[in-house]
Amino acid sequence: MSTIPSDRSPESTLAFLREGYRFVGPRCDRLGSDIFQTRLLLEPTICLRGRPAAELFYDNERFVRRGAMPMRGQRTLVGVAGVQGLDGAAHRDRKAMFMSIMTPAAVHHLGQLFDDEWRARIPAWAESGPVVLYDEVARMLTRAVWAWAGVPLADADVPRRTAEMHAMIEGPAAVGPRYWRGVLGRRRAERWAGDAIKRVRSGALPAPEGSALRVIAGHRDEQGILLPRRIAAVELLNVLRPTVAVDRFVVFAALALHDHPHWRDRVRGDDAATESFVQEVRRYYPFFPVAAARVRRSFEWQGYAFPQGRRVLLDLYGTNHHPQLWPEPEQFRPERFDDWRGDPFGLVPQGGGDHFTGHRCAGEWITIELLKRAVGNLTGSMSYRVPPQDLALDLGRMPALPPSGLVVDGVRRTA
Ligand code: HEM
Repeated sequence: MSTIPSDRSPESTLAFLREGYRFVGPRCDRLGSDIFQTRLLLEPTICLRGRPAAELFYDNERFVRRGAMPMRGQRTLVGVAGVQGLDGAAHRDRKAMFMSIMTPAAVHHLGQLFDDEWRARIPAWAESGPVVLYDEVARMLTRAVWAWAGVPLADADVPRRTAEMHAMIEGPAAVGPRYWRGVLGRRRAERWAGDAIKRVRSGALPAPEGSALRVIAGHRDEQGILLPRRIAAVELLNVLRPTVAVDRFVVFAALALHDHPHWRDRVRGDDAATESFVQEVRRYYPFFPVAAARVRRSFEWQGYAFPQGRRVLLDLYGTNHHPQLWPEPEQFRPERFDDWRGDPFGLVPQGGGDHFTGHRCAGEWITIELLKRAVGNLTGSMSYRVPPQDLALDLGRMPALPPSGLVVDGVRRTA
């Protein structure tokens, strides 16, 4: 048995928080290995990247999710006892609940709602001065996904709800006030989400057939028991929060159109080119740095020992930028997806493997649909300018976003 290469640091948590998306990859490069061992959050941790590693990581026989997500992630981003931390039959059952919401018709419907929001906002942008695209898109996504999920939302509450979603997303990798805003945002959101679940169950709030609110409120687990209200609230937020988070990808798509303006004409009205563009946005730009699991039972892989209980991180960003998988990975080249046949372990911005049986993101199809709608509107429904501003992406900050949030001005409706 070989010894897993080590970064030899007594504790790397601060380095991880400081280096962000660049924590795993450069260490792999330095050690000449796509696997190394380090210490994170005071325990030994194996870090992996690349396609074979992704295939290993998404093998449910070898890994479990129970106890893998650090407490700070549960207190802010995902909540306690949601689908992300389940294994085996309990996971399959809960995941089926999510996937039942993601029919092609439902995905299309959400895209249409987002499209309607976007078109309705263009006149206001044309009248106003500069607008911050990130803030605007976040609020449009909030309105669209609340309506789609069947959750009532007063106009006056849109900024507050959007801020709660952002706080949860910003929380896990933050220290100090940004972390505590995440904790508070989650507490508040679980309260009103739990209240909505309660009112649906009592019949006080009608929720449309097939909507996320109706499905989650009425879901019975594999033993036929309704989800405890608090867990149902966590799962409702597992639909609302990440849909609002698509705002970051929309900003990245707008940034890509700004940095590579010739793509504006290529994607306009061309569904296949838009799809390639959107896939490259998901591959190229940083979002989730890593996914975490624990070894179910000790095993050996490529001559290395994986002891039972060991925490393992898969570098999602690093896999999406692996030179063996993606030639010239630091080049933004949507045409690499023109003849792409799909690979469940190659393109992993939202996890790998199977949507139904594994932990791959339940909202991947929604994300692609919303991004296509956004690119359609940015290139087909409006013209705009991008004034000078700080658009530099800091790969040490998780989750990443250009500091300006991408300001646009001079908006004109074009269709
Ligand atoms: C903003 C873009 C998104 C990104 C970057 C993203 C990323 C991810 C990642 C990395 C995972 C974890 C994979 C793993 O644990 O191995 C995940 C899981 C999940 N995502 Fe997303 N996601 C996004 C959008 C969405 C949307 C729109 C929804 C729902 C409407 C959603 C719902 C979920 C759920 C429920 C899980 C847990 C799946 C499971 O544990 O089985 N996500 N996502």
